[in-house]
Amino acid sequence: MWLLRGCTSKYVASSFGRRVLTTYHVLGRSRCNIAAFMPEAAGFEGVSGRAALRELSVSNSDSFWAAVARHRLSWITPFHTVQDCDLSRGKIKWFEGGKLNVSVNCLDRHVHTCPERVALIWERDERGSEMKYTYRELMEMTCQLGNLLRRHGVKKGDCVTIYMPTCPLAVASMLACARIGAAHNVVFAGFSADALAERIRDAQSSTVITVNQGVRGGKVTELKKTVDTAVQSCPTVKQVFVAMRTETPVTMTARDIAMDEYVFSYHDGDVFGCVADIGWITGHSYVVYGPLANGATTVLFESTPIYPDPGRYWDMVERLKINQFYGAPTAIRLLLKYGDKWVNKYDRSTLKTLGSVGEPINTEAWEWYHRVVGGGRCPVVDTWWQTETGGICIAPRPSDPDAEIVPGMAMRPFFGIKPVLMDTEGEVLTSNNISGALCMAQPWPGMARTIHNNHQRFIDTYFQPYPGYFFTGDGAYRSEEGYYQITGRLDDVINVSGHRIGTAEIEDVVNQCPAVAESAVIGYAHNIKGQGVYVFVVLKKGVDIQEADLSRQLNSMVSEKIAKYACPDFIQFAKRLPKTRSGKIMRRVLRKVVESDLEGLGDLSTLDDPAAVQEIIQGHEKLL
Ligand code: WTA
Repeated sequence: MWLLRGCTSKYVASSFGRRVLTTYHVLGRSRCNIAAFMPEAAGFEGVSGRAALRELSVSNSDSFWAAVARHRLSWITPFHTVQDCDLSRGKIKWFEGGKLNVSVNCLDRHVHTCPERVALIWERDERGSEMKYTYRELMEMTCQLGNLLRRHGVKKGDCVTIYMPTCPLAVASMLACARIGAAHNVVFAGFSADALAERIRDAQSSTVITVNQGVRGGKVTELKKTVDTAVQSCPTVKQVFVAMRTETPVTMTARDIAMDEYVFSYHDGDVFGCVADIGWITGHSYVVYGPLANGATTVLFESTPIYPDPGRYWDMVERLKINQFYGAPTAIRLLLKYGDKWVNKYDRSTLKTLGSVGEPINTEAWEWYHRVVGGGRCPVVDTWWQTETGGICIAPRPSDPDAEIVPGMAMRPFFGIKPVLMDTEGEVLTSNNISGALCMAQPWPGMARTIHNNHQRFIDTYFQPYPGYFFTGDGAYRSEEGYYQITGRLDDVINVSGHRIGTAEIEDVVNQCPAVAESAVIGYAHNIKGQGVYVFVVLKKGVDIQEADLSRQLNSMVSEKIAKYACPDFIQFAKRLPKTRSGKIMRRVLRKVVESDLEGLGDLSTLDDPAAVQEIIQGHEKLL
């Protein structure tokens, strides 16, 4: 259990309530290039070429990961056993006996060799006011924060909740926790007081770190006030550290501790621009730990893609001289609508690689990203992975920098990753040109080890469905050539603007409304957000309320209890929902209605009352 000594991160990175413990082994997964996996860099002098090394990473995974871990990381105590995993029991143990500190790996090593290299570029919401922090400065800030936390009683094994926008102090807070052996629970700053409170309670945090106010897209958000509300229902919280992002003072209580500002200088460096928020997994792995572990310069993007105008990303690329740009398809689809002129205005010649993550990227968006943003010059890499995998698992060019890239396909497994497709009977599909449930046949160091406080759920969700395999929850297609394309979730999880959310979580909130008898939430194809939220609502008998009023009420409930992005796009009021004779809502039927695919309604013979479907169809047509 060395992992709990400073290299473990506790995520609340996904909105549907999974709290997955993932280990940071810091194996060079920050960059779209894979220099870290050159045979010589990984300590494999005898292996010729990266393709051969990829083969070896799967066929002889233990010696591969052992060599990479020894070569690329600083260990306090070396490990004695590479891994002791058993997928059939959901047992995940890596590098047993070993002890390392992830913050030392992200900071001290680089401060030793290149202290003045820029570690962070903070692209503040106010355009043109970026700030740079060197590795030395980031380490100083981290150490000071670590000492501050320690002085206030935070100790090894505690879990600190961080509710901050993407900024240097948030990164230093994460690293400071890791440094003193505390786990961190980074909560996306877009979450409401209720959602934050639930996550604080779940983590049993006694310490919260926040800022007075956040600024995003020119709008101020009252983060400290949200924390004040949240902690009222969190008896474990003893102290709240408050940093100042703006100059507006906030009310401080006896529980609150003010944090001082730092002054930092300006330096040059290589630049990795991942525009994810640190409250989500992509921010953890590709804004903070991955880039820093590799000594890269990483960008902290605080703003939105369209603030103050739709040229924001490309203006930033020009100003910060970004080399790798990593973003989400939802933003690309949004920007595409504003036209090429916002891109062409800026010099993008520093760009080398364009990455995409979080949801499928449609061909139109892929082509535009490639042709307009990258000027046809930069490879677009569609990277598939998830919170549970810790880092990229499938990407177009894991081992061959010149390999063919097919638009909209994640394509090839990364080092040490062995994907398989399963049929509905749980048999491995061996042929190509076939679709199935995407599973992993062998473990890798970055994978989740448990769900915080609920190991059984971890086993039931990821290892029970296909015994002996890790189940990703996604479906995938394997082409004739053997390339993988992700087809979407197989469970009741939807992906709105790249944010995962369980339909059940939204239903829970909707059902709390006193007027609602029951509800069903369905994701549907949305041309910007990827998926939109469509809610069917059945009212309690005798309820007399204007539908428009109730819609407003439901919207504000979802926004208050979860977050704005989870708000319904459509609310359809129905007399009843189609159900099986055993009383289960026929979601498959609702999905087809929402997709207007009446041909595909399929077998309705198990329905309790087929007339319910007709009512639902009529209601849907009226709503459109
Ligand atoms: C989806 C985000 C298609 C998928 C890193 C996965 C993708 C979920 C892709 C994880 C991609 C992620 N193509 N779908 N390139 N990348 N997904 O945990 O459904 O927030 O299971 O991690 O996003 O979302 P999470």
